[in-house]
Amino acid sequence: MKKGKILLVGFGPGSKEDMTYRARAAIASADVVIGYTTYIKLVEDLLDGKEVIRKGMTEEIDRCVEAYEQAKLGKVVAVVSSGDIGIYGMAGPTYEVLFQSGWKPGDDIAVEVVTGSTALSACASLVGAPLTHDFCSISLSDLLTPWPVIANRLEAAARADFVVALYNPKSGRRTQQIVEAQRIMLQYRKADTPVAIVKSAYRRRQSVLMVRLDEMADCDIGMLSTVLIGNSSTFLRDNLMITPRGYANKYDSLTGATREGENAGRSLSMGLLGWKSCVRSHMRDSASHSLQDIAGHFGMPPEEILSAISGGSSGDAAGEFSAIQAPDAALVLDEVRSWGRLRAVVRAGDAVSEMMLNGTELNLSGDRLNVENEHFHLHVDWRRVARAWLVRRGDQSCGVHFIDSHGDTVCKLLLARQGRTFDTAAEQQFNLAWSALGESSLTEVNDE
Ligand SMILES: C[S@@+](CC[C@H](N)C(=O)[O-])C[C@H]1O[C@@H](n2cnc3c(N)ncnc32)[C@H](O)[C@@H]1O
Repeated sequence: MKKGKILLVGFGPGSKEDMTYRARAAIASADVVIGYTTYIKLVEDLLDGKEVIRKGMTEEIDRCVEAYEQAKLGKVVAVVSSGDIGIYGMAGPTYEVLFQSGWKPGDDIAVEVVTGSTALSACASLVGAPLTHDFCSISLSDLLTPWPVIANRLEAAARADFVVALYNPKSGRRTQQIVEAQRIMLQYRKADTPVAIVKSAYRRRQSVLMVRLDEMADCDIGMLSTVLIGNSSTFLRDNLMITPRGYANKYDSLTGATREGENAGRSLSMGLLGWKSCVRSHMRDSASHSLQDIAGHFGMPPEEILSAISGGSSGDAAGEFSAIQAPDAALVLDEVRSWGRLRAVVRAGDAVSEMMLNGTELNLSGDRLNVENEHFHLHVDWRRVARAWLVRRGDQSCGVHFIDSHGDTVCKLLLARQGRTFDTAAEQQFNLAWSALGESSLTEVNDE
């Protein structure tokens, strides 16, 4: 018997011209074509002599099961989907159904994904060049995704200044999601941020609307619209929406000359290395500021600042700060127990608690770091601790900063001081740990 095959075909936004040659050939090679009724209409001219299975909007899993059943009969089956079938399309559910049925790659039924131009690029092409820098897509459909997940993604994308493409922005029943999306985006973006609303791109009823972010939710948006929201540098000129690629950071736009301090073909002066050097230079100039102040100044988590400090060299140090990352937080905690009197600093939101304790009073029990003595009982959720950094600030403080997976400080355990001096034995222990770490990081570098 002939071997079956499933072709998962994205046919682009909807026009013949925007369908790839490979998508056309894949549909032409199929015995059976399966798709949502509207999609089948869009590829009607390719269906002569083929068995066509039309399904409704909510029958996605049916389409996958049907494709598998037909392929098992030895037929070549094309499952068609608009745009790219791997983007909010049928490729995922089809693989899930196949795996649940015991199918494996290399089995008798071959599966092939045929890519197509997805709505965000098709829509972008109609409004200028809004996606020329970092962007993300978020679907506002809460049919299968809980709203808090969608809201968190919107918030994160807005905060991170991504250009955002909203898929499934609105339907007859889902009308408030776009209102919420607008509210969240406006927490971080200016009211006049350019927004493009593209409906039925490259189809008969195509329409394009350019609006401001604060007008977005009141506009005519439907199931066939994609909404493109600009970032802080996106601009509108002559009704074209443009997100700069970043050339102006490096080159003068009039003369094309490289700006002072920049080099063609090299990272920007504020690229990774330059940024770290800038942090250290700021720390040299702001000697009285705490690590937390510096992190707040740059709007970055404290670990970013620690990482910049640790990369400093003698001519480019971070003032009095030095820092070194420990490979294992629990091992460092063991060391700390021998450091004698300590100052524990725990931050919860805006509240900072500081308490004096003895290293031996630290007790790691299961998920908790317990500090228990006659004066207080403190718990730190040890599950939050992802990394530990030894940090020294001249003769002012030295100790360990426990950091969570987001780079924020969970707690600090610092050597206690008498006036300006640390307890000699404790400082010796600290220095031993510091040089052991320094040596291990040197060995790692040499091994590379
Ligand atoms: C289930 S998703 C399918 C996405 C599709 N697989 C793709 O890659 O473009 C449906 C959403 O895609 C967007 N969309 C699909 N085709 C479009 C078109 N021709 N014009 C504008 N938006 C479109 C709309 O946001 C719509 O709500």
